[in-house]
Amino acid sequence: MEYLRNVYDLLPPCRVPDTALGLLAEPLAFPAKAAVSFLYGHPSEVPYYGRSPAVYPSPIGNGSTSSRWATAYGHARAIVSQMTVDEKVNITHGWPGACVGNTGQVPRLGVPALCFADGPSGIRGQEFVSAFPAGIHVAATFDRHLMYRYGRALGDEYRGKGINVALGPVAGPLGRMARGGRNWEGLSNDPYLAGAGLGAITRGIQDAGIIATPKHWLLNEQEFRRRWSSMGDAISANVDDRALHELYVFPFMEALREGAAAIMCSYQRANHSYACQNSKLLNGILKTELGFEGFVVSDWDGQMSGVASANAGLDLVMPSAGFWGASLAQAVRNGSVSHGRISDMATRVLAAWYFLHQQTDFPPPAIYPSTHRHAPVDVQDDHASLIEEIGAAGTVLVKNVNGTLPLTKPRFLCVYGYGAPLKAGPWQNPDRYGGGYDVNFGWGTLNGTLVTGGGSGGSSPPYVVSPFQALQERVARDRGILRWDFYSDDPHAEYVNADACLVFINAYASEMFDRTSLEDAFSDRLVANVAAKCQNTIVVVHSAGIRTVDAWIDHPNVTAVVFGGLPGQESGHSLTSVLYGDVSPSGRLPYTVARNEADYGNLLNSTVSADYFPEDTFAEGLFIDYRAFYRDRVAPRFEFGFGLSYTTFGYAGLSAALADSLPPAEFPDAGVPVVQGGHPDLWATVAVVACAVTNTGAERAGSEVAQLYLGVPGSDQEGEEGDTPARQLRGFVRVGPLAPGETRQAVFELTRRDLSVWDVVAQQWRLRRGEYRLWVGASSRDLRLNGTLSILAA
Ligand code: BGC
Repeated sequence: MEYLRNVYDLLPPCRVPDTALGLLAEPLAFPAKAAVSFLYGHPSEVPYYGRSPAVYPSPIGNGSTSSRWATAYGHARAIVSQMTVDEKVNITHGWPGACVGNTGQVPRLGVPALCFADGPSGIRGQEFVSAFPAGIHVAATFDRHLMYRYGRALGDEYRGKGINVALGPVAGPLGRMARGGRNWEGLSNDPYLAGAGLGAITRGIQDAGIIATPKHWLLNEQEFRRRWSSMGDAISANVDDRALHELYVFPFMEALREGAAAIMCSYQRANHSYACQNSKLLNGILKTELGFEGFVVSDWDGQMSGVASANAGLDLVMPSAGFWGASLAQAVRNGSVSHGRISDMATRVLAAWYFLHQQTDFPPPAIYPSTHRHAPVDVQDDHASLIEEIGAAGTVLVKNVNGTLPLTKPRFLCVYGYGAPLKAGPWQNPDRYGGGYDVNFGWGTLNGTLVTGGGSGGSSPPYVVSPFQALQERVARDRGILRWDFYSDDPHAEYVNADACLVFINAYASEMFDRTSLEDAFSDRLVANVAAKCQNTIVVVHSAGIRTVDAWIDHPNVTAVVFGGLPGQESGHSLTSVLYGDVSPSGRLPYTVARNEADYGNLLNSTVSADYFPEDTFAEGLFIDYRAFYRDRVAPRFEFGFGLSYTTFGYAGLSAALADSLPPAEFPDAGVPVVQGGHPDLWATVAVVACAVTNTGAERAGSEVAQLYLGVPGSDQEGEEGDTPARQLRGFVRVGPLAPGETRQAVFELTRRDLSVWDVVAQQWRLRRGEYRLWVGASSRDLRLNGTLSILAA
């Protein structure tokens, strides 16, 4: 069964490489928890009680956010009021069925089983579906419009297959740990960029009539011991209230504001309370502070208790009855769970269904195992062209000397490295392209071109255009020649007539384990060996997250370097459109590439602990990724937001003004009720910043990603330590394409929330009084303009 994904269900332990053992998500098989406790005994959990605040009772959803939600709730209540307790219980847990998750049905009231499917970058395990770029690749476009179109196309495919609920997009993990195994499923470790993406993708999916499920709520920042096992309980992510809000909750707010009708709670513990029974996270932040109207679904087998999870705000358990089913019915009958709560659970599930109008004209599920003969249900549409466009827009050029790129009709190319062609045997499992954790467990690289990562977030491409295929197409068109070696780490590279040598390497990651390194010796040797012989060596790195490059980046023969991300099925076409200059690169790094892995400090690795109650304290607070590099004065190799173009851009004329003539109030208006996404005032535009961006090059059109960074009053400034990072991304616009000489305005609207900090005493977003510092530029360190904005007391 799909959800039995404990690695030990799939691989005998002896096959797991030692290097990976330390970072296994679930170190030993899953005997019943009670049996483990009985056999081995375990330390008392009582000392850990109360570390996460208790918030009860669970808020009853009421549809007050909008007339659309109100209508959905009206329909849902009318049906739920006719249901028996058993019927309510049946629709709040998973059942066996064709989909990754299937709810129960109530035929007498016309309530069908709902179909849930992975994943965030395409429908996994099905035929005639597309493989879109992964989340982290979409983030690298810094383009909200592309993010929306991505979500919409995904949603259309889900709908075409009759899937009610899409299990994505992802902003948890946010990407706190450089080596986190699932960072690539999400967007960026910057919450503003991640939020823009999560919101736009959610809107896109739901505009297609599909329930989006932003996940994993919350703090699922590492794979190692993400779940309980015979070693003990799952890792506890211990985080303070401010970092919780300003980093980890922040991106989900946008998705909620866009109407996300479901949220998936995560496996691990948060402040020592399991996320799917954490009343602070579910009843408190999600359902009270952020007014969530939809339903909370557990991560697969992530439920750890019956009554406790029901009362803490979990609404639906997957993929089976877990601790509910008949036990939940009994708990309702004996008063441990109220009738109001079980009705609320059922109402939320149905309200989401009505919110997306799935009660009318929704196609029946067309989900089949590969062994089932059936007519194709083709949902690909023209998504290949969008995939190619996003693939190119998220490609990041980080080095380009001597005008190496774009290539100008090269006649002779040498292509090296395991990352250029298709993997010889990518389909050991019909659900997985090129190695999920069950195929490729513990490897640092994929022996073939990498277009997606492993695990439930991987995609099932209809075909993959490899870089080698696309290069051959181009070279053949120009009646040129190629030489290649995809095997050796020291290829014969003495073709003195070649125009360039392209070297393809990759860095793999998957659900179920954290990465053991951000580099690997084989690939680094390969690049160095080619560069030693070929004066024009172009390196392409496809990576599921950060890949350090200092082993060879300064080699004089390495003339160009491209971070190709995880581009999906059109990989080769996206890449060649950039290499050949059909598109000028404008992708930007959605993370910091350090010079040395050690530069990430405590944020390099997951916490590896053998304690029965392992914990990971987020002592760095707000200071992750570029925020920490600034504070610690560590020079990165390539900073967050960095990426080169084939042309140059100038910035001029920064303006910054408050939207209103009266100074804004310090807090949102306490008299206005919260709606889904938080207090409505949080989304009001408080200030507008603008500047002109000009393509100052003479030859090529190109797009520029203009970025706005903000220093709030009280932040770190030269010589003065504050309580907030010196600069945080609070705006971006992909301007263009601009013709040579063309100028356009970049306009950044700053909402109340963008300017606020979370006040842990007031338990509210607070606008600090004083001077806000602003920088606009081409990356987090290439800051071209600066200014200030004063927000004074009324
Ligand atoms: C993953 C989820 C996924 C689910 C269903 C879990 O292991 O953490 O992200 O949606 O499985 O496949």
